[in-house]
Amino acid sequence: MSLDPTFRNIRGTFDILPQATASEGAHEAPSRAWQQVEQKIRAVLERFNFREIRTPILEPTPLIARGIGQLTDIVAKEMFAFRRGDTDYVLRPELTAPVMRAYLQHRLEQQGSVQKLYYIGPCFRAENPQKGRYRQFHQFGVEVIGTETPEADAEVIAAMMAVYEAFGLQNLRLRLNALGDASTRPRYKAALQAYLQPYANQLSAISRKRLESNPLRILDTKDERERRLLEAAPRIIDFLSPTARAHYEAVKAHLQELGIAFVEDPFLVRGLDYYTHTTFELESPDLGAQSALAGGGRYDLLAQELGNEAPVPAIGFAAGIERLFIALEAQGYLFPEEPGVDVFFVVLGQNAMRWALRQAQQLRRAGLRVDLDLKGRSMKAQMREANRQQAHYAVIVGEEELLRGQVRVRDMRTGQQYDVAFDELDDLLKGTTVRIA
Ligand code: HAM
Repeated sequence: MSLDPTFRNIRGTFDILPQATASEGAHEAPSRAWQQVEQKIRAVLERFNFREIRTPILEPTPLIARGIGQLTDIVAKEMFAFRRGDTDYVLRPELTAPVMRAYLQHRLEQQGSVQKLYYIGPCFRAENPQKGRYRQFHQFGVEVIGTETPEADAEVIAAMMAVYEAFGLQNLRLRLNALGDASTRPRYKAALQAYLQPYANQLSAISRKRLESNPLRILDTKDERERRLLEAAPRIIDFLSPTARAHYEAVKAHLQELGIAFVEDPFLVRGLDYYTHTTFELESPDLGAQSALAGGGRYDLLAQELGNEAPVPAIGFAAGIERLFIALEAQGYLFPEEPGVDVFFVVLGQNAMRWALRQAQQLRRAGLRVDLDLKGRSMKAQMREANRQQAHYAVIVGEEELLRGQVRVRDMRTGQQYDVAFDELDDLLKGTTVRIA
């Protein structure tokens, strides 16, 4: 087969196919595994009484730019944004700002003063593609909007952990930090700048640039020398107000009561500007360089940043589904097998085909998974197809069977064959096969 070389999926995106494949440009996991993963995520989050919100994939660019912050990598260089007419559009790089937009726009606080929302869907970031990092990827996450209590923080983290627990994932590491309130960051920023300034010429070019604009970003440097320099740097925790510190202490106490292990990481600042107070990231040793399975935190100032007069306290997390798959694969997770069809009709002749089409409809209405030959193949080829489809029963019907008013049924699991009258066929097939709910 030849293919115009321009007609391939875009680098950093992939197709999700019905079967597992190693084909380039396809995700390794089949669509059935994606469905199962999504179902499990939904089931766990709904047990926490989160309800689903679906927002558009297209959002106004200023929402994302204001929400996430002009200086962040996401806004500065990773947005798929374009202008059409007089509107600036962006393919959403995340869902926290869109969900807050929807909350404010639809006055969701009137539906209940604490909104517990969850989402599953694609996000887009123009990053350099590599394992675990894509340009179109999928997130699931939750946002609890309308409360500032540390219990909300604990519940969000507990919900996140519960998802991974449901998959039996081991060896995860939860890192936790607190960024304080509106006044904390500017004071800390100044202190960090003052500390690093004398070492400016020892910093990498990129960190030197950040020293002026966004010194907190230097904290997650991977450069060993810079890490050593940071060991004695001021820590944001020491800049928290008494209330912010009490909040953080309460979150930690709740996590301990819930038996959720964590490590405190004073350098965890995260790559989005909207965070205040609690921030966290969940890592898996199975992910290599892209070690974050999920991350989140409190964003009490986002609503105002988006133009709302009053602050709306909120906290959430989001997680990458592709990275969940990588961790599942590394830990040998087994997905239940693809079910075969209940019935495959092996049909010879036009009249028999008409009968089989009707019969197939009837059985499907009764909840069975039914297929038949759509290619006019030979009987041998149709039997092969029934086998490939892992049919429980092959129902063989030709002109002769039609005349006799009976079909030949082959139980593909046992190899047994018997003749069955038309009016007994339904009962036989319905009674003995598993129905699709
Ligand atoms: P984030 O850390 O930017 O946070 O993304 C959350 C997760 O999405 C990451 O931990 C990672 O698993 C996955 N992810 C991010 N970028 C990519 C990519 N290019 N390819 C594959 N996976 C990726 C947020 O998005 C915040 N909205 C989280 C949040 C919710 N904070 C409060 N509420």
